[in-house]
Amino acid sequence: MPRVSIDGTDKTFEVKEGEILYDSLYDRDYELPHGCLSGSCGACRVEVITGKENLMPAGVIEKNTIDSLKEEFTKVHGEKFVAGKEIRLSCRAKVLGNVIICPIK
Ligand code: FES
Repeated sequence: MPRVSIDGTDKTFEVKEGEILYDSLYDRDYELPHGCLSGSCGACRVEVITGKENLMPAGVIEKNTIDSLKEEFTKVHGEKFVAGKEIRLSCRAKVLGNVIICPIK
């Protein structure tokens, strides 16, 4: 079973392959920050610290929201803030293997 770990904590969860990241943790009593749960608000954004290849590739809706988030982050924090960061939406990303994630505030 894939494992999802929360960076900087001792939290690690075994989840089912193909589960949506947010749902997989919610079902195990760990609630990530969220809003719409439909891929448009960006409130559920997480940085994938390791294992980005273990998430199903982002679809169009997720990609568009992530692009908007990156634009916002760049305006507010500068380009270095987003450079090299793998940002995903926990309400859209499906887990295929082990990942370590960190919610982005
Ligand atoms: S909760 Fe709104 S995009 Fe995921």
